[in-house]
Amino acid sequence: MTQKFYHILTFGCQMNEHDSEIMAAMLEQKHYAPTEKRSQADVIIINTCSIRENADKRFFGTLGQLKRLKKEHPEKMIALCGCMMQQEHITRAIEQKYPWVDLIFGTHNLYRLPVLLEKAGEEEKLFMEVWQEHRGIQEGLPSRRKYPFKAFVNITYGCNNFCTYCIVPYTRGRERSRRPEDILREIRALAEDGVKEVMLLGQNVNSYGKADGFSVDFADLIHQVNEIPGIQRIRFMTSHPKDLSDKLIDAFQSCEKLCRHIHLPVQAGSTEILRRMNRRYTREGYLELIRKLREKAGEDLAITTDIIVGFPGETEEDFRMTLSLLEEVGYDAAFTFLYSPRKGTPAAEYPHQVPEQIKHERFERMRQVLDASMARRNKAYEGRRVWVLVEGPSKTDRTLMTGRTSSMKIVNFPGKRDLTGKLVQVRITQGKTYSLMGEVI
Ligand code: SAH
Ligand code: SF4
Ligand code: F3S
Repeated sequence: MTQKFYHILTFGCQMNEHDSEIMAAMLEQKHYAPTEKRSQADVIIINTCSIRENADKRFFGTLGQLKRLKKEHPEKMIALCGCMMQQEHITRAIEQKYPWVDLIFGTHNLYRLPVLLEKAGEEEKLFMEVWQEHRGIQEGLPSRRKYPFKAFVNITYGCNNFCTYCIVPYTRGRERSRRPEDILREIRALAEDGVKEVMLLGQNVNSYGKADGFSVDFADLIHQVNEIPGIQRIRFMTSHPKDLSDKLIDAFQSCEKLCRHIHLPVQAGSTEILRRMNRRYTREGYLELIRKLREKAGEDLAITTDIIVGFPGETEEDFRMTLSLLEEVGYDAAFTFLYSPRKGTPAAEYPHQVPEQIKHERFERMRQVLDASMARRNKAYEGRRVWVLVEGPSKTDRTLMTGRTSSMKIVNFPGKRDLTGKLVQVRITQGKTYSLMGEVI
C-alpha cells in the first residue's frame, strides 16, 4: 500500500488549533502521514475562522489557488471545516463558486472526519454535513500535540454570551462543559505521556459548569488539576470579566502550578460602548478586577487582553477612554482588532459604523500605547531569574533556544538543543518590546 498524506491549514484561535490536532490524530490512526506540501497531500483540510486576521480573505485566496491543483490531480480530496462552515451564506457561496471542493463539515461533527472522508470519496459532487447545534460532547478523541510536553484541553465548548459583535455563539453553539472526571482523566493520561503544561480551553472558562449545573466550578477544577502529579504548569484561556470570581483570583495564591498570567479581554474602555457590546461590565468594574488581581496575585502577574477599535458609534471620546484604560492597566500584551461587521450579529446592523480610515488611525494610536506598555513591563524583568519551559530552537535565530516564562513571556537564550521540553532557570539580560533575552544560570 502506498503511503497517503494529509495537510491541514488552520486559521483562528486555540480552539481551532486544538481541533486540527484532533483531526491530525484521527487521520494518523487511518495511516495518513503529515506533509507540509499541499502538492504531496491526498487530503487537504482548511480549518476556517470567522473572526481572525482577515482570515476570510486569506481563506478565499487559498481556495482559489487550489483550483489548479485539483484540476491536475482530481483524486485529491479538498475538505473545509471550522467556524465559517457554520455560516450558511458562506457554504452556499462555496457550493456555487468553488466546485472543486469535495467535503464540507462544521464544528459540531468534526469527530466524524473518518466517516465523512469515506462518504465524500464515494460522491462525485460536494458532500456536505453541517449540524446547526451540537449533539452531545464526544469523549476520548485522540490528539496530535505540537509539543510533546504541552497540551490543550477543552473544558467548555460554545458560548452563551452573545456579545453584539461576535459570531462565535452562532458558529460554536450553546455553552456546555465537559464533566470534571472526564477532564481530570484526560489530564492524568497526558501527564503520564510526558505533558508538563496544560492549557484549559473555553470561550469563557470562568463560567465552567454553570450552564450544566455542576457543583464543581472553574476554581475548584483548577485546584483538582493542581493535584495531578507530573503536571507542572496550568494555564487557561479565555476569561470573561463578568464571571471572574474572587475564588479564582485566590487560586493564583493557593495553586502553585497556576501560571502567573491571565488573559482578560476588555474590548473597550468606555462603559457606553461596553453596554452596546453587551459585555455586562463597566469600565469601573473591570478596573476593580484589575486592582484585586494586583493586590492578591502581585505586580508581576501578567495581564493580557483583547481590544476592538471602531465599534459602531465609537466617538473620539470613547476611544480616548480605551487609551486611558490601557495606560492605567499596563498590559503585558494584547490582541487588537479592527471592528468588522459579521453577518447575523446585532452590531452589524447598528447605525454610525466607523469609517475605515478612522479605524486604522485609532488602531495605530492604540498600538503605540500598547507597545510602550509592553516594553515597560518587559524592561522590569532585567536582572530577574525566571523559570522557562523550553520549546526548542528559535525560528528567527537558530543559534538561540526559545521558551516561555510562567507569565507567558517569550525568552530567547543561548543553549543546547537537548534543553527542549525542560524547565530551566534563566537570568534575564534584556527586556525588549515583544520578548526577553536571557542566559541559563
Ligand atoms: N471568548 C473570547 C473571545 C473569542 S473571539 C472572549 O470573550 O474573550 C476573540 C476576539 O475577537 C474577541 O475577544 C474580540 O476582541 C475579537 N472579535 C470578535 N468579533 C469581532 C468583530 N466582529 N470585529 C472585530 N473583532 C472581533
Ligand atoms: Fe464572542 Fe463574547 Fe462569547 Fe467571547 S464571550 S466568544 S466575544 S460572544
Ligand atoms: Fe475564529 Fe471560531 Fe476561534 S471564529 S476565533 S476559530 S471560535
